[in-house]
Amino acid sequence: MASMDSVKVAVRVRPFNQQEKNSGSRCVISMQSGTTTAIQDPKNPEHIKMFTFDLAYWSHSGFQRDNDGVLISTGSNSKFAGQKDVFRGLGQGVLDSAWQGYNATLLAYGQTGSGKSYSMIGYRADKGIIPNVCEELFKAIENKEKNQQYQVTFSMLEIYNEQVRDLLSKTKKPGGLKVREDQHQGFYVDDLTSVPCDSYAQIERLMEQGIKARTTAATSMNATSSRSHMVITIQFKQVFLDGDLTKQSIINLVDLAGSERQKSSASEGDRLREGSRVNLSLTTLGNVISALADVTMGKRVLHIPYRDSVLTRLLQSALGGNSKTIMIATISPADICYEETLSTLRYAERAKKIKNKAVINTSPTEKLIKELKAENNRLLSRLAGLGNSGRRVADKTSRYYQVKPQVSTIQITWEHQLQEARKEWEERYTAIMQERQMTKAFPYLFNVNEDPQLTGVLKHFIQAGSSDVGQAASNKIILQGLGISDKHATLTNMDGEVTVRPQNKCRVVVNGVPTVTKTKLQHLDRVILGSNSAYLYIGFPSERSSDDLARFDYDFFQSELAAAEGVSVDKLSAINNKDGKVDPSVLAVFQDYIKLIPLVAEANQMSEELMKGLKLELKVKNLASSDSKGYDLQKEVIVKVTNRETQEVWIWDKAKFINRKYLMEEIYQHFLDGEDFHVAQEDDPFWDPLEAIHLGSAHVWLQSLAYSMKLEEQAELLNSEGLEEAVVLINIIPCSRTGEAYGEDDVVIDPLELLGKRIDFQIQIIQCLGVKWLKEDARRGIQIGYKVYDLPITLYTKPVWKNVNAKIGETVHFVTLNASHDFLNYLQKNALIVDLWGLQEGCTELNCTQKDLITWEGNILVDNMKTLTPQEANQATSNQMAELYLKLLKLEQETELLRNINRALREENVLLKDSLKGCGPGQDHKLSSASRITAQAASQKDTPQMYTPRISNDADFAKALKVFYRSMNIVRGQFLKLRHNRPPEDNQMLRPFTLRQSHLLKDIGELLEASLWKLKNDVALIVKKKRESLAHTKYRGSSFP
Ligand SMILES: Nc1ncnc2c1ncn2[C@@H]1O[C@H](COP(=O)(O)OP(=O)(O)O)[C@@H](O)[C@H]1O
Ligand SMILES: [Mg+2]
Repeated sequence: MASMDSVKVAVRVRPFNQQEKNSGSRCVISMQSGTTTAIQDPKNPEHIKMFTFDLAYWSHSGFQRDNDGVLISTGSNSKFAGQKDVFRGLGQGVLDSAWQGYNATLLAYGQTGSGKSYSMIGYRADKGIIPNVCEELFKAIENKEKNQQYQVTFSMLEIYNEQVRDLLSKTKKPGGLKVREDQHQGFYVDDLTSVPCDSYAQIERLMEQGIKARTTAATSMNATSSRSHMVITIQFKQVFLDGDLTKQSIINLVDLAGSERQKSSASEGDRLREGSRVNLSLTTLGNVISALADVTMGKRVLHIPYRDSVLTRLLQSALGGNSKTIMIATISPADICYEETLSTLRYAERAKKIKNKAVINTSPTEKLIKELKAENNRLLSRLAGLGNSGRRVADKTSRYYQVKPQVSTIQITWEHQLQEARKEWEERYTAIMQERQMTKAFPYLFNVNEDPQLTGVLKHFIQAGSSDVGQAASNKIILQGLGISDKHATLTNMDGEVTVRPQNKCRVVVNGVPTVTKTKLQHLDRVILGSNSAYLYIGFPSERSSDDLARFDYDFFQSELAAAEGVSVDKLSAINNKDGKVDPSVLAVFQDYIKLIPLVAEANQMSEELMKGLKLELKVKNLASSDSKGYDLQKEVIVKVTNRETQEVWIWDKAKFINRKYLMEEIYQHFLDGEDFHVAQEDDPFWDPLEAIHLGSAHVWLQSLAYSMKLEEQAELLNSEGLEEAVVLINIIPCSRTGEAYGEDDVVIDPLELLGKRIDFQIQIIQCLGVKWLKEDARRGIQIGYKVYDLPITLYTKPVWKNVNAKIGETVHFVTLNASHDFLNYLQKNALIVDLWGLQEGCTELNCTQKDLITWEGNILVDNMKTLTPQEANQATSNQMAELYLKLLKLEQETELLRNINRALREENVLLKDSLKGCGPGQDHKLSSASRITAQAASQKDTPQMYTPRISNDADFAKALKVFYRSMNIVRGQFLKLRHNRPPEDNQMLRPFTLRQSHLLKDIGELLEASLWKLKNDVALIVKKKRESLAHTKYRGSSFP
């Protein structure tokens, strides 16, 4: 009776969501037939990967809503697959298996928001597979003959952070339910509520109840539903009363946690990366699936890690065991989800290989009776323990069982159980009907959750008079949730008006703005209580119309909060959206921002309650920073963490913060459960070793150097928001090889004159003035870092501690032996980025030894990369590469120097010989100048200007240019500041104006650069021509005196 089957796998692609539509996403999925799925790499469009599964459901386009609100196909041209199609393809198979007595499992796998819950449970009229399976099951039962009995029980659980929560139980067990193992049954959940059902309506209510429990947990326990797995189990027994045979099937319907991997690269850098168990079940599921796929491929597999997680224990028989198993892999169509989608498809491909061996579960009815009797005896003894009345019932019942024949025993017991369940169900039904009545009479708040499945599940009615709101049981409206106080606020419904008033200093936010006084609520106002409990206010029935409530989703709430903090897509992209199109990277940053707002609020609240004393702030990194060419830097979201007491500061990137947040939740959960929540410092997600913090950067334009002009700058070090952190006094000085500064007369008019020559220059970092970092806390220190052209590493100055006006006084001598085009270009177009780093007591200082780079001459060689371009050098990230590269560089430097010395010596040798030949007194001067010839100059003797005295007009001209270029540098700096200058408040009226202004500014900037460039070229050309004609007349003059 065993049947060997592969896991059946289906893929389903959903429509674009609002965010994808807004950002102009492209669809990268296509399905040519009912079984193939093709995915196109958005970065490499020719790159298309094909997958073949048992079924491919196209739910992306070609649909409309019918009168009942159900999504249906637009006609015969459309290949749209609606909920009914998916039920027919997958759910019907589950049902058939159940009727035959096989165990069946249906798993939904995919990233958060890809449509797992939509497919499994559904939304409103679009019922998913589970309701359809249940409805069809009862329909079929009704039509069956009556000499059989059908027993259906229903249970619903959630696995979060390796704990099992019974979603149908009224009481919460601390630590969750236990998973136990039984020789016959395999793994099962001990004490799980399993409700006998005899109608679909009953199951509908139970599901509603389960989702409500999930929502309450998500809001009060601060659990993110996307991280939890939901398992619905239907036990279906068919008792053949005349054949003394029982067939039974266990149907597991599993809505798995979101499959998205934490963008691992960054969280890998977190020392606490392995700490959280939140992902354990999903990771283990992946390992089990891989191992089973290997088994099918004939590989030797020693161990299948079922036991490693709660989920895989419960699914053991579904995977590689006694079950007919189906997986639906749900995917997003959008290009931005490419990586995740590809990973989902690969996962599904592996699952497809698993082979199961399902058997029909039959047993003689006698066995069932035995089991029932045992169960009854247990119940009876419990009844007997309930005092007189219980004992009476027990006596009666036990006598009853003794006289009745066996088959009826089954019927009676089952009927009895059903009745009990029905009683409870009726109570619940009344409550639900009451709630429905109240929605028609009163204004109310309804919850808005990050997971749309859990939105609108909780309703809080605002009855006439005033109602206190808070966690305490004495409140009229009891609200659980992070940061909600015992008495949090008061809602008043009076004279046809509803107002909200926060209790002393409790956080109440209405439409994105925190309120402290009594505030009137209007229909569809957004209310946030505590850290993050979001509610939509539904006004009096008379105020309501056929509103689209779905518009006010979780993201809407967070966008409103972000706008109040001055962060919006418009603001983030004020410079970029010239053609009205928003840069996708800006949209991505904004999405990150609004995703993190609630998480940061929660982390702050947890920190407060656990007395960790941290303040977390969400920031956009590089909001106003630009690279060495003045282009905007890629923006990203970061979290600044400050210890309120010690003023220590950390900067966490997004991945690290999210990782930490889940670890914090674990500790917080122990705290809530009254358990010991203390952890050692090295395991504490609220703690990290101290690091140097990047405070700000200054741009020091290098153009002067290209003209061999000295630059003395007082550069503003601006933080990522464009605000001044400090001022750095920095000089960039062209000099001789021994470090003597060049004077006015050494100014070069055309940078090309320097091509192929040796350039010596010094960077002097003198002082840092008015360092805010030190004003905040005088115990701190600073270091300054900068990277010159193609140097593989950043150079840091020595740390200076406890000084607001830190004297740095560092001079570094750089040299380029053979100035390349690229280097001269760099000097003319780039700025030296000078970074200010903040040190704090006990933190590791930045490595400031440069000895590996310093040549025997005591300088640092730049523009010496023969094989590596600066980009390639940047990419050579590993230390080993850098080390090797440094060695190579040194070797190269040394050979180059040796070669030059050799050349110079040879030339000097020739000169000496010449001078010896004509040994006259007039030659002395020539000799001394010859010995001064540097290695470089010797190789450049064909460049005449080094020897020709410059005409005095030329020097004036050069000086004038120098002044001009210097003022241009200032203009450039100010221009950059102006570009990042925005109005302090998001003013709707001003917005079109500022937008236009920033476009104009950008145009001006481009024009300015272009004219400057042209001017320089023209000047250079004129000078060149002039020199040529000069050389010409000279030559003629000398030939024909
Ligand atoms: N096939 C589909 N057709 C229409 N809407 C869908 C479909 N799949 C998902 N959605 C919508 O996308 C959103 C996210 O889907 P959901 O099932 O909650 O994702 P998940 O459970 O995978 O996190 C919901 O608003 C849902 O209505
Ligand atoms: Mg879901």
